Amino acid sequence: MVTILEGDTKIHAEQQEIVSRKMPVFFNPDMKLNRDITIAVLNSTKTGDSRLRCCFPLAGSGIRAIRVLKECNNIMQVVINDISGEAYASIREHLEMNNIEYMENVAPGKHDEGAAFIFNTEAACLLHKVGGFDYIDIDPFGSPVPFMDATFRRISRGAIFGITATDTSALCGSYPKACRRRYDSRPLLNENCYETGLRILIRKIQTIGMQYDKAAVPVYSYYYKHYMRVFFRIVYSKTLCDQISKEHKYFLFCPKCLNRKYSRYNNADCCGQPMEYAGLLFSGPLWEEKLADQVADSIKKRGDMANRDLEIVEAIKNECKINSQSYFHIHEFNKKYQITHIKKRDDIIISVREKGYNVSPTHFNQLALRSDMPFDEFARILK
Ligand SMILES: C[S@@+](CC[C@H](N)C(=O)[O-])C[C@H]1O[C@@H](n2cnc3c(N)ncnc32)[C@H](O)[C@@H]1O
Ligand SMILES: [Zn+2]
Repeated sequence: MVTILEGDTKIHAEQQEIVSRKMPVFFNPDMKLNRDITIAVLNSTKTGDSRLRCCFPLAGSGIRAIRVLKECNNIMQVVINDISGEAYASIREHLEMNNIEYMENVAPGKHDEGAAFIFNTEAACLLHKVGGFDYIDIDPFGSPVPFMDATFRRISRGAIFGITATDTSALCGSYPKACRRRYDSRPLLNENCYETGLRILIRKIQTIGMQYDKAAVPVYSYYYKHYMRVFFRIVYSKTLCDQISKEHKYFLFCPKCLNRKYSRYNNADCCGQPMEYAGLLFSGPLWEEKLADQVADSIKKRGDMANRDLEIVEAIKNECKINSQSYFHIHEFNKKYQITHIKKRDDIIISVREKGYNVSPTHFNQLALRSDMPFDEFARILK
């Protein structure tokens, strides 16, 4: 066991070469940015005058919940749960190490402030028993879908929730049958699969919410390392549910010329052949601009960030302002259009701006750019 300090939270964790779900208590240091962004999102969340009641039904070591209690200034209470007995014991130990008072197996009162309430049960059972929350964090092994019914039932009006998905090989197209089964959608394995995969995930979550007339609006979404993360705001509105379902479309792609578009139909031709497609998926905005600014600002103020982590939040802050179909992968265009004189990324950005279009690096890929320029004009710029 080693002592880890993340933010100003201390925990004991096993030193492991490879992080896996077989660890007695799961802790992944690679998820630090995921936890940092959660704190930034919660610190930017206002729900009237009241403070937030938060629930972490799949808490592992409890590090995320404890960090939220220590680093957010608007928390009423946190409920921390894990099905594993070993994880539960470690949550108790970590609360004590961090001088946080807690109660075991007792549902919090609406106004119990500042404390932790811990449980050792199944996540959906907990949500059905103890609720409603202003924030729910679903951080499972693999897909979040099995926990979404209970989440939508117990989430309050105007609340937000965050989900993590680590089954990216299904969502991005390595296992299309798994994507069809879990997400009722067709993935497409190509240079744009990180964005189409994220959009497939979002659409699936939205369809579960719609069963309860709850519209799930993505406010901050990203793909990084081995996982996808999305924060949604919940609006009780049949009209908004209907509007969102109009954004459920197909992503059509021509592998010959790299043409791409969203469409309500999954059949169109380009270069004399049918376009490939992914979907259904959510074709609307992935971010709320103000929140993306707030997250980037608060992450930059931390003194403990890796360079790539800073680049991710900065790229999101910029790309969220661009209304585009998808991102352009520079190498893919160079290859398809047989471009031998390769231009630098920064020079391409200058040329796109000179033509009057918006362009920015995308967090999805360091070799890609998000732009509202049509794909064929982008190809001409590279030549
Ligand atoms: C990815 S880990 C959580 C990591 C943690 N949120 C963090 O930030 O470090 C997933 C956890 O969910 C727990 N778990 C898996 N299935 C569960 C279920 N059905 N109900 C409650 N906990 C569950 C596992 O024991 C594991 O500790
Ligand atoms: Zn084509």
